[in-house]
Amino acid sequence: MNHDFTREDAWKLLTEYNKEHFHLQHAVTVEGVMKYYADLLGYSDEKEFWGIVGLLHDLDFEQYPEQHCIKEQEILRERGIDERIIHATASHGYLLTVNIKPEHEMEKVLYAVDELTGLIGAAALMRPSKSVQDIEVKSVKKKYKNKNFAAGCSREVIERGAQMLGWDLNKLIELTILAMRSCEDIYLSV
Ligand SMILES: [Fe+2]
Repeated sequence: MNHDFTREDAWKLLTEYNKEHFHLQHAVTVEGVMKYYADLLGYSDEKEFWGIVGLLHDLDFEQYPEQHCIKEQEILRERGIDERIIHATASHGYLLTVNIKPEHEMEKVLYAVDELTGLIGAAALMRPSKSVQDIEVKSVKKKYKNKNFAAGCSREVIERGAQMLGWDLNKLIELTILAMRSCEDIYLSV
């Protein structure tokens, strides 16, 4: 395992392959959310690692959307990056582009929150505050049920993720709102 791969290294790699603001902001959002969940679920000692996985999970999406979760394995492996990062990032494409199943709790969290953070972020933008600080589960659920709202955020993936974690949808939404509140300042500053 390459213990020398730091958050700074991950950011450098991310920005080498990603230039669009939307993608960088999504990466930083998922990083912050993953770090929140690491603490919440008893993995504080691996918090940085969870964050790096969040930061890099969509590494290949901007340049290789057709090979999403496939190309990034190649890129990461070429650089000698920890196989745990490769498995974790690629497994969020399970049943979509790859057959790498989320196994570790971290991987299940990533699978569950990836699309959901997009939906909650879009719901927050509809509010006068434009913030997740005062958003409630109820209003997110209402948007969630409207299939035309943030239609690109796959409800199927979110629900499969919740199922993997053994959580109901309300719990997943509630915790993910709290996670986004914890890092909103950071991802909005990207
Ligand atoms: Fe993503």
